[in-house]
Amino acid sequence: MAKTKTAYVCDACGADHTKWQGQCSVCGEWNTLKQFVVPKSSNVPVGQSILGSTDGYSGNAPSVENLADIRMEGDSRTLTGYSELDRVLGGGLVPGSVVLIGGDPGAGKSTLLLQVTTQLSKQVSCLYVSGEESLQQIAQRASRLNLPVGDLRLATLTYVEQIAELVQKEKPNVVVVDSIQVMQVGNVDSVPGSVSQVRESAAFLTKLAKQTGTAVVLVGHVTKEGNLAGPKVLEHMIDCFLMLDSAAGSRFRTLRSLKNRFGAVNELGVFAMTEQGMREVKNPSAIFLERPDKTNPGSVVTVVWEGTRPILVEIQALVDQVQGGYPKRVAVGLDSSRLSMHLAVMHRHCGLSFSDQDVFANVAGGVRVSETAADLALLTSVYSSFRNKPLSKDLIVLGEIGLTGEIRPVPNGQERINEAQKHGFTKAIVPRSNRPKNAIQGIEVHGVGSLSEALEVVKTVEKL
Ligand code: TYD
Ligand code: MG
Repeated sequence: MAKTKTAYVCDACGADHTKWQGQCSVCGEWNTLKQFVVPKSSNVPVGQSILGSTDGYSGNAPSVENLADIRMEGDSRTLTGYSELDRVLGGGLVPGSVVLIGGDPGAGKSTLLLQVTTQLSKQVSCLYVSGEESLQQIAQRASRLNLPVGDLRLATLTYVEQIAELVQKEKPNVVVVDSIQVMQVGNVDSVPGSVSQVRESAAFLTKLAKQTGTAVVLVGHVTKEGNLAGPKVLEHMIDCFLMLDSAAGSRFRTLRSLKNRFGAVNELGVFAMTEQGMREVKNPSAIFLERPDKTNPGSVVTVVWEGTRPILVEIQALVDQVQGGYPKRVAVGLDSSRLSMHLAVMHRHCGLSFSDQDVFANVAGGVRVSETAADLALLTSVYSSFRNKPLSKDLIVLGEIGLTGEIRPVPNGQERINEAQKHGFTKAIVPRSNRPKNAIQGIEVHGVGSLSEALEVVKTVEKL
């Protein structure tokens, strides 16, 4: 009988090690090595007989093909009926692909997938496999949400070999597995949720997807550190990794693609968790911009580019006298190191010192902004709070700030200004090279080349 082998896999980068060690020698993370039991090669489980032997080389002669000769099938993507999800997927579900949806417990993964599969099962056959909830619980949820329950097939299973058998029998187009952390492979001796089980189950289901052409959607829970519970190794196997995020206390959920073999990454879909389940939010600018009629000091609106569309967000800053100790620089939803860097630029090029001030910055609505195009809006909000004077409600600010104090252009400038104008903004401060050649009706655009020039414009236009 073949012997069980033990390996150690890093949770953070997925590297294999033969011995346990405190630090991963590949990525440098501490205490991330988890024991991994390599399955015994004998003892073929039920599902493997369907998939063929998984061990070793089969002996068939390999063949090569010309790229030009490969016959492409027509675009066979399946639209899920939820346009926010379809856009994040890059235009629907691809047959034979494996999609992982990650998120905190309670983010709404099961709710969203139940809604999607009940909708989808009207046109294609869907199988929903739950290892976490009973059939009654799922049925209760579906009836409470008034979902069209007609054709969805359900099963509660935790062995992936059983899923393979069901897929053979039912031949579904789409299989949802909720969640990968409770799944197990029969011949791996470790508990569900361990690195070994998660990795082997995902590998098994990936193989199942490729061989049967079924689209497999895996649900994965995220740990407090933000890693998918168990291994980062999953990310290498799957085709598409979507993350469902919720800001603390907010009913809004953002769905973002972090990896996509069939479309652009960083697409953003927005949902709201309501009494009737997950609702699509088709005009996110409107919700992120819910502001009081009279603006307060430290609030500035900018336009960020998310995937393929512009979204208006409000950046807020609070500048306050240091209350003992070092001055604090805290940014929520923005990069804290960029905030410190910009304060240095402001000091060096505009003569404004914040050495005795705490500076806090935040993006309203729990959105995360990683774009440099929000730099100038951030500093403008800091300036407005520092002077304790509000800016007008109909101003938007765009632009990246360089270390020499210059304002650099942002991509898709014209579209961003158009979006702001559509939402009723009448004044814009933008990088000089982003100034539209032809005036846009209804919005007065000021082009600026440097930070000091931008602050001058703020002072004159806004009478600060
Ligand atoms: P769920 O889909 O079970 O989360 P996940 O599968 O990601 O762990 O969602 C659970 C949360 O959503 C729970 O806190 C209750 C809330 N919820 C609503 O607010 N409205 C609803 O209609 C439903 C079904 C859930
Ligand atoms: Mg769930």
